[in-house]
Amino acid sequence: MLTFTLAPEPEEFARERGRLLFAGPVDFVKGVVAMSGLPPADRVEVCFAGRSNVGKSSLINALTGRKSLARASNTPGRTQEINFFTLGDQEKYLVDLPGYGYAEAPVAIVAKWQALLKSYLAGRTTLRRAFVLIDTRHGVKKVDDEIMSLLDKSAVTFQTVLTKADKVSRAEREATIEQVKGALQKHPAAFPELVVTSSEKGDGIETLRAIIATLQ
Ligand code: GTP
Ligand code: MG
Repeated sequence: MLTFTLAPEPEEFARERGRLLFAGPVDFVKGVVAMSGLPPADRVEVCFAGRSNVGKSSLINALTGRKSLARASNTPGRTQEINFFTLGDQEKYLVDLPGYGYAEAPVAIVAKWQALLKSYLAGRTTLRRAFVLIDTRHGVKKVDDEIMSLLDKSAVTFQTVLTKADKVSRAEREATIEQVKGALQKHPAAFPELVVTSSEKGDGIETLRAIIATLQ
């Protein structure tokens, strides 16, 4: 049985590294619509994956302290490209992905994004960690499970991040955490620590900054 816990509060030095990294420049590099458009795989990269509307772009905005660096919106399917940002002194790539599990756009277009998303997750050599975002109101759904299986198969470590924690009661949050821990049991690529976040209220943001800053 795999043991999952909540990520501990970062140590002072890690918190400071995270603060410094995200206080530095964050630059948009490019939006990519095909694997051939990916920037050279020459530095540590982390990405944010999750169902459409789970809060990927909002989380990137909260981490970077910029209101609209990544486009967030109420319209599911807002992010339609793989968006690359550089952090710090060009040190790392931060990647905002299109959502998966979105059924309301024209089928051919959705199929195109999903294929690109899957190729990226399975084939990006410098992808150091994928953050898989799960809405605290909903828990792990079948589509999340499929993406997690793809990451298992590709041997990409993924860390689960619960989003929109401000929208649920403490009891609901605890229930979702238990559901997530259960769902992660069958995923060998799952990192053992979960992070609970609210982009709205700031919960978990310092912790996530510290985690990203310490990844080499
Ligand atoms: P796609 O790009 O369409 O896949 O969506 P996304 O995962 O990037 O989600 P996005 O960040 O655009 O957020 C979707 C909606 O959820 C927006 O209306 C956000 O304001 C809202 N939202 C995101 N994070 C939070 C949060 O922590 N708390 C609350 N209350 N709302 C949030
Ligand atoms: Mg988005």
